[in-house]
Parts: sequence; structure tokens; C-alpha cells
Amino acid sequence: MGLERHLKSNSEQEKNDPRTFVFDPMDMEQAREESDAADIMNNRTILITGGAGFIGSHVVRRFVSRYPQCRIINLDALTYAGNLGNLEDLGVAANHVFVKADIRDAEAMRRIFAEHDPDGVIHLAAESHVDRSISDPMAFVETNVTGTVNLLNAAREHWKGNFGGKRFYHVSTDEVYGSLHDGGFFLETTPYDPQSPYSASKAASDHFVRAYGNTYKLPYVISNCSNNYGSHQFPEKLIPLMINNIRHNKPLPVYGKGENVRDWLWVEDHAAAIDLIFHEGADGETYNIGGHNEWKNIDLVHLLCATMDRKLGRAEGESAKLITYVTDRAGHDLRYAIDAGKIGRELGWKPSITFEQGLERTVDWYLANDAWLQGVTSGAYRDYYAAQYGDR
Ligand code: NAD
Ligand code: TYD
Repeated sequence: MGLERHLKSNSEQEKNDPRTFVFDPMDMEQAREESDAADIMNNRTILITGGAGFIGSHVVRRFVSRYPQCRIINLDALTYAGNLGNLEDLGVAANHVFVKADIRDAEAMRRIFAEHDPDGVIHLAAESHVDRSISDPMAFVETNVTGTVNLLNAAREHWKGNFGGKRFYHVSTDEVYGSLHDGGFFLETTPYDPQSPYSASKAASDHFVRAYGNTYKLPYVISNCSNNYGSHQFPEKLIPLMINNIRHNKPLPVYGKGENVRDWLWVEDHAAAIDLIFHEGADGETYNIGGHNEWKNIDLVHLLCATMDRKLGRAEGESAKLITYVTDRAGHDLRYAIDAGKIGRELGWKPSITFEQGLERTVDWYLANDAWLQGVTSGAYRDYYAAQYGDR
């Protein structure tokens, strides 16, 4: 059976309301579909790129444990952001194969396709941090653009036009749509308007995936997701950086006035959406994924301070004293906000937990995994931090 789409029959009213979700995660239909998905995955080989990174490790963990009859090839170059410790809890799983390789290496991509013969690709490997893209844009062109085209070529050449049951799933970001002001949401039809080298490189990679679909009929699906948070996120991104700094009583660097707005989604809900789209998304479609959860940076940092005060037994207001306003990021996008109505209506996805629940779990995870944080913040992280925040 191919990876075809199963539309759910929602009422017209629900379909017309982009903010309505009609999925009950506990319902029988989901149980049936989960077992369908497990059947579809029998004896399949799925290549997941970037599986040692933040989101990729959650996707690998989910696929390896949910689909034991499916072989997961986890391809990752193990850059500063990739860490096999992110998958430590999986132990040795018979259906998980790790391959250290760089997607910038076209020949290596061809060899890996020939050796492992994947039926599907879930492509997450990328340079992912906006601040790094400002100081080193070429690294983003090489990995995000050239690397993606190398994978597209390897898939096209290997599948040789026999596309039945094949799928190239490209994981992208809402940042390709640019910056919103006070009103409105990003829809799948919103014109691309990337504003940072990172988002420009992701936009270019999205365009290449669609171009390969149009030109070579390569079966693809794309999703564009809002900001993720959760366990195993490298502490260059806002939430783990703030948790780490609060923990160590270091200044909390808030860019500009802290008025920029982001829409936060728990990473495991993103992994669940990727699973659903991989199995049930329609070929050639794009799905926006978001948390319906907008926060001004400064409000979020205050919430984190209050949560940490409580968890660490500090006096109320103690951690907030560490807040330090620093020079703004160049070209800082003001607001991102996703309308995730399409994936809700068509595939029945919605976030499974509230932001408050997700943040509690996240803070608890970082506090319980100090060794992980220490491991990733030693060495090169210190040089990065000094270069990024030293003179700010
Ligand atoms: P991450 O930086 O935590 O992980 C990236 C992974 O890719 C790392 O394991 C790294 O080793 C690997 N990698 C980097 N360059 C590589 C190369 N040349 N060859 C092979 N592997 C390489 O990133 P993340 O936050 O987990 O993001 C994963 C994907 O999701 C990215 O494509 C990103 O654009 C997208 N995304 C991220 C977010 C977010 O909030 N983090 C939101 C929406 C979309
Ligand atoms: P980040 O986690 O880098 O994600 P993105 O830029 O892709 O949205 O940043 C989230 C927001 O937090 C963004 O508006 C920039 C801001 N920010 C700070 O104010 N201070 C920091 O130290 C960092 C890393 C981010």
C-alpha cells in the first residue's frame, strides 16, 4: 500500500474555521490509523537526515519505537548541533542504523542510497540557527541548499522514476514566510519573503523540492513549522539558553526590547505531526504546523524565570534580576504566527499538551540532565558564546 492520503470527514463548519481542530487523540479512528501506519511501515526503509539533532532525534525515537518492522537509517554529520547522546535512551535498537555522513557530499549521498535502498526520506539535516547564519551565511547555502539538492539528486537517480510508495519529505520552517506585524497568520499560500540568511536558505531548499516534484515528478511533501521547544535542544536557542543561564546565574540576554513574538510548539507534537504527514499527507502538498501559542520574548523569559525560581527554591523575582537587554539581532523578524488549520482539518492533528505543561516538562528535563547540558556547553560552545554575546 502506498503512502496515500486519508481525509477525515469533518463538518463544513469545522472545515471553515481555520482555528478549529476536531481530532480526539484517543478515538477509535486514530487507533485504526495507527495500526494502518504500522502496517504500511512493514519492511520499509526510511532515511532520516539530521536524526542526531534536536527535532531529528525526537523523530528517530518515535519512528524506531513505533515501527519496529521498519528500518530507520539515521544520517547525520554530527556537527556541533548533532549528538548521539540525544538518542542514548533508545539503547541498541535492531531497526536503527546510524550513518555518519555529510549531505554536502553528493557522492556519499549516492552511495548511501545504493547501500540502504530507502523507500522514503525525512529530511531534517540543516544549519538551523539564525544568529550563526548572520555570521557565516555560506555554511547555510552549502548545507541547506546544496545538501538538499544532493539528497534530491540521490533520491531521483536511485528511484529512477519508479516512484510508487516513495516519498521525499522536506522539513522546513515558518521563517520562509518572513515577518508578520500585529495581525494575520502564515497560511500555506502566504508568499515566501525570507528575511535572514537562514530563512533564505530554507526557502531556497523548499523551492528546489517543489521544482523536483514539478520537473521530475519526484513525490514530495513539505511542512513548515513554528519554533520548537523541548528536551535535547542545543542551548544556542532561546529557551534552553535561558534555562542554562538562569541555572548558572548568568545574565539573560534579551535582544532589543524583547517585543518580538514567536509561536512555540512542543517538539514531540512536531514529531507527531511529521509522522502523520509522512503517512497521510497528500503528494505535492504543504502543511503548516504551529502551536497556536504566541509569546513575546520578554514575557516568555519572565515565565521561565518564575518557573525556575519555583523549581530551584529561589525567592520570587530572583532569576528575573538576571534579565539584560542587549543589542538587537540584525534584521530581527518581529513576529511569526502559524495558522495550522489545514493540518487540523485534513489530517486531524493538534498539539497534545498546553504550553504550560510543555514548559514544565522541558525545565524538569534540563534540570534532571545537567550532565547533558554540561557536555554540550563545554569546549566550542564557550567560544561561540563569547563571540556572540561578548561585546553585545
Ligand atoms: P539542529 O541544529 O538541532 O540539528 C540539525 C542536525 O543536522 C544536527 O544533528 C546536525 O549534526 C545535522 N547536520 C547539520 N549539517 C549537516 C550536514 N551537512 N550533513 C549531515 N547532517 C548535518 O536543528 P533542529 O532544530 O533539530 O532542526 C531540524 C530541522 O527542522 C531543520 O531543517 C530546521 O530548519 C527545521 N525546523 C526547526 C525548527 C526549530 O524550532 N528548531 C522549527 C521549524 C523547522
Ligand atoms: P531563537 O531561539 O534563536 O529562534 P528564531 O530566531 O529562529 O525564532 O530565538 C527566538 C527569539 O528569541 C528570537 O526573537 C530571538 C530571541 N533571542 C533573544 O532575545 N536572546 C537570545 O539569546 C536568543 C538566542 C534569542
